[in-house]
Amino acid sequence: MTENHPSTLLVTGASGHLGRRVLELLLESHAGTVVAVTRTPDKLADFRQHGVIARQADFDQPASLAASFAGVDRLLLISTDVVGEPGRRLKQHRAAVKAAEEAGVKHVVYTSLINPGPDSPVAIAPDHHGTEEALAASQMDWTVLRNNIYTDLLSGSISRAAQMGQWFSAAGNGKTAYVTREDCAQAAAAALASTFVGRRTLDITGPAALSQAELAAIAATITGQQVTYVPLELETLITNMVNAGLPRPIAEILASFDTGIAQGKFDVVSSAVEDLTGRKPTSVAEFLASQRDILMQKVENH
Ligand SMILES: NC(=O)c1ccc[n+]([C@@H]2O[C@H](COP(=O)([O-])OP(=O)(O)OC[C@H]3O[C@@H](n4cnc5c(N)ncnc54)[C@H](OP(=O)(O)O)[C@@H]3O)[C@@H](O)[C@H]2O)c1
Repeated sequence: MTENHPSTLLVTGASGHLGRRVLELLLESHAGTVVAVTRTPDKLADFRQHGVIARQADFDQPASLAASFAGVDRLLLISTDVVGEPGRRLKQHRAAVKAAEEAGVKHVVYTSLINPGPDSPVAIAPDHHGTEEALAASQMDWTVLRNNIYTDLLSGSISRAAQMGQWFSAAGNGKTAYVTREDCAQAAAAALASTFVGRRTLDITGPAALSQAELAAIAATITGQQVTYVPLELETLITNMVNAGLPRPIAEILASFDTGIAQGKFDVVSSAVEDLTGRKPTSVAEFLASQRDILMQKVENH
């Protein structure tokens, strides 16, 4: 890749939150061709107006995938949002890796999960571990971005906690280096557009690992309400979610993150966001402060 021949970059899952933000960042910074692959190209009309080539593809239909990936140097494989259907997501990702190799893609960037190895209790970890294995078994180069838990997901819990005065979790004293989706998008766009050749695994994390008690304290500061951390047994957490209307299999998947946190799987802080992007990752307190108006509306509406 030289300035005269900027690489052709492709983003899968391009109409999702992460995919759209990565496309925006590439349009700002990348001189070469940008290809967006999605099940619904109509949703990307705004990007097409700015020169992005939109192609239709579905990881559940592997036969068409290699054609959608043709002519591409580097590909961002965004993990799909399929959960609760054992085996389906890994099958999708394996199909995408195989198609990328068949299409002659040189480098795949993949959005994985922190510590996805076989000892992880997190229900979705095997999808990520299996995808990393598929990349390792391929002939391609890759960058695995092991994203920590999105800070963005805390907003709902914070407003609920502020309303109830209690922050419930089965994560014990475990810590998590929450990372914003924006930082994940910035890191993914930078890794995709970089000239890095070879294979590397990077932990994409926020600047500090926080306990649930520390989160409760941040929730209290930002909302002005008293919030106390209440540690729960895993089964109690699952029962509470089921009573609140969640199907038990989904409640078990969500609760498995608490077990992972309790076991220290998410207690990983790295400099990768800054190394890739040149900017420091956003802290939980900074992110939630920027969301304060929305949070307070949610507290009032609960
Ligand atoms: N680290 C975390 O805390 C965290 C939290 C939530 C999610 N995630 C993971 O990160 C990914 C990106 O996050 P996000 O916020 O952008 O999620 P999102 O907005 O829900 O996007 C999910 C993406 O999955 C793609 N997808 C679903 N089914 C597909 C299929 N059959 N074939 C190809 N693509 C398919 C969709 O692509 P199209 O609709 O464009 O085809 C969509 O863009 C998620 O999918 C999930 O794997 C991580």
